[in-house]
Amino acid sequence: MTILVTGGAGYIGSHTCVELLNAGYDVVVVDNFYNSVPAVLDRVEKITGKKLKYYDCDIRDREGLDKIFAEDKPEAVIHFAGLKAVGESSKLPLLYYDNNISGSVTLFEAMENAGCKKIVFSSSATVYGNNPIPYKEDMVTGDVSNPYGRTKHFIEQILGDVYNADNSWSISLLRYFNPIGAHESGLIGEDPNGIPNNLMPYISRVAIGKLEKLTVFGGDYDTKDGTCIRDYIHVVDLAKAHLCAVRKITDSTGIEAYNIGNGKGYSVLDIIRAFEKVSGSPLNYVIGDRRAGDLPAFYADASKANRELGWSAEYDIEKMCEDTWNFQKKNPDGIK
Ligand code: NAD
Ligand code: UD1
Repeated sequence: MTILVTGGAGYIGSHTCVELLNAGYDVVVVDNFYNSVPAVLDRVEKITGKKLKYYDCDIRDREGLDKIFAEDKPEAVIHFAGLKAVGESSKLPLLYYDNNISGSVTLFEAMENAGCKKIVFSSSATVYGNNPIPYKEDMVTGDVSNPYGRTKHFIEQILGDVYNADNSWSISLLRYFNPIGAHESGLIGEDPNGIPNNLMPYISRVAIGKLEKLTVFGGDYDTKDGTCIRDYIHVVDLAKAHLCAVRKITDSTGIEAYNIGNGKGYSVLDIIRAFEKVSGSPLNYVIGDRRAGDLPAFYADASKANRELGWSAEYDIEKMCEDTWNFQKKNPDGIK
């Protein structure tokens, strides 16, 4: 069975390609390499000892997509391709709406045209906004404070309309919590360009000496130690959730959302401590001001994914830090 993976050279996409290949699927990647490099895909092949096919193609390129669907005849799509920097999305909203929403609509049109109506979509816990925690899939979503998050909400709504118009679609909306960690080979991992926005890549660049110190965004939240609480999930656990979702969409039609998280909350200081333990050195950090738009705490109720997909997270934060650190040490200058 062939799976088309948009954004397959990216952080989560590459780890998912490894799991798909290991499970015996044929993989076709569509990526424009805006935030990744083709060398990542060589490393996916090295890890698995299997070949994949890739196209340097933008998901907004309808003609390009049509050719790929005609040539490779994928039975399902996993759709990761998108821009994801929250701060940038507030400065460049039209870029985000064009890339994420126009790109997704173009992809769905190409799928419909090819008769491929099975899709797993990378959504985000951000769609829950200010709901009480833990987040559950049946909560009202969409109270989102930034354009990036709105693109996730809108694409979920668009897929809902697509399904309502044609019940032969099979759609899985995976709402990721905070993916961190790396493949244990150290060959692939999170490799952001420039100064990282997210916590874990920032920590590992401080630990390796590329950045001077981490600023903890706020120490005065109403949480156990004053710092924000998040639900961190190992990227390999997250990748495996896609296999479960692919099995589900190939078995049945419908549209369902699933929380993909650990179901546990860890503070920023918990993560710093866990990282210090595995790296064996103290991390240089200061407690600074709150970051605009941050919620004090959120984590998943992941019981639906457990029940309906047969998926649950295996790895703890120590393993997440260990694998991040291993990747960082083996790739001090990233993947070229
Ligand atoms: P990433 O940037 O590492 O990967 C995205 C990939 O998509 C990159 O390889 C990029 O080059 C490609 N891409 C972007 N726009 C494209 C386009 N128009 N055409 C073709 N390819 C394009 O990001 P990631 O962390 O792997 O995230 C994957 C998906 O998961 C994204 O949709 C993201 O919004 C979503 N998500 C990520 C997180 C997270 O914390 N990493 C959390 C929730 C949701
Ligand atoms: C952010 C996005 C979210 C997106 C997710 C994954 C915001 C408000 N939310 O989530 O929409 O889905 O990334 O891309 O940007 N922190 C520090 N110092 C740092 C960096 C982070 O203290 O230098 C703290 C943050 O305040 C937060 C935690 O670490 O409490 C995790 O931050 P981050 O990795 O950016 O993820 P989120 O904010 O949860």
